[in-house]
Amino acid sequence: MAGIYHIAVIPGDGTGPEVVAEGIKALEAVSRRCGVGFRFKEFHLGGDQYLSKGILLPEEVIGELREMDAIFLGAIGHPDVKPGILEREILLKLRFELDLYINLRPVVLFPGVQTPLKDKGPEDIDFVVVRENTEGLYAGGGGSFKKGTLDEVAIQESITTRKGVERCIRYAFELCRKRNKKRHLTLCGKNNVLIYESDLWFRVFQELHKEYPEVSSGYQNVDALCMWMIKNPEQFDVVVTNNMFGDIITDIGAIIQGGLGIAAGGNINPEGTAMFEPMGGSAPKYTGLNKINPMAAIAAAQMMLDHLGEKEAAELLLKAIKAVLKNDLKGLEAGRMGYGTREVGDLVAGYIAAG
Ligand code: IPM
Ligand code: MN
Repeated sequence: MAGIYHIAVIPGDGTGPEVVAEGIKALEAVSRRCGVGFRFKEFHLGGDQYLSKGILLPEEVIGELREMDAIFLGAIGHPDVKPGILEREILLKLRFELDLYINLRPVVLFPGVQTPLKDKGPEDIDFVVVRENTEGLYAGGGGSFKKGTLDEVAIQESITTRKGVERCIRYAFELCRKRNKKRHLTLCGKNNVLIYESDLWFRVFQELHKEYPEVSSGYQNVDALCMWMIKNPEQFDVVVTNNMFGDIITDIGAIIQGGLGIAAGGNINPEGTAMFEPMGGSAPKYTGLNKINPMAAIAAAQMMLDHLGEKEAAELLLKAIKAVLKNDLKGLEAGRMGYGTREVGDLVAGYIAAG
């Protein structure tokens, strides 16, 4: 047997548990074929725990998660909890506490998947966004003054550190070299307005570029990059950017690769643990209906295998995902796949068994 991995599973809220179950089904199918072993340990975090017991993310859970090889997350978000509480106190806290400083979001259009972009196909949409994941506006600094009055002042601070920028850009250059595709790294900023923050990113980018002469580089302001992602996505190979811009542009990325039914991401500490998740939310209206598309969660599991260094297993699962997308699914939206959630998982497992 190759490695045995300890995987923390956080099914979370809404449809999270349903999609996570199919991700695990795929991993177990891979395990039977490649001899990679998994020990799953479930952690019940999310809106239900918060509403019934007041529990968000206890210290001892963070300690346990730190020791795991990887974390597989479904979704966090509950209609009865005010926006911001679960997100900040669970999802973002995990990113900060475990220092998961890279948010890796591939934007890949697989054959058989519809993109809303006219005249674009799989050969045009194949890039990766490296989003800084622990700083910027997400650091959450700021405050309200004279709240609730007509004189109210709101301050939302953005924190950018040299260390945070450097480790993120270095990761992106390394990835660009390793991907070995166009070997082109685009820095996305807003240096005509954010004259301190984007300037720091720009200088560090230029400095590190000297260490990667085989990689060509470009700079784009985030507003222009949003247009280019739609008009000429084929120009991109790896894009590196700050936390907020990365959040926004990866939703464009998700839709051009077929939507939240397929978009997955990894929150990675290259020196520690990593957490993989479907990009979509908890989709409460579909909870328990066997209608939600589990492909994004299965793609997250695939990224996890790749991150763990299990290349053969990752390849096998990728092949199965591509086969289901190309041969079986009618669409990627919930309730429009031509199959139920569990049946999509069965299809993936079937290709793995046969492949
Ligand atoms: C994401 C999400 C989160 C973010 C939310 C849920 C806090 O949109 O992972 O992209 O803004 O990072
Ligand atoms: Mn987002």
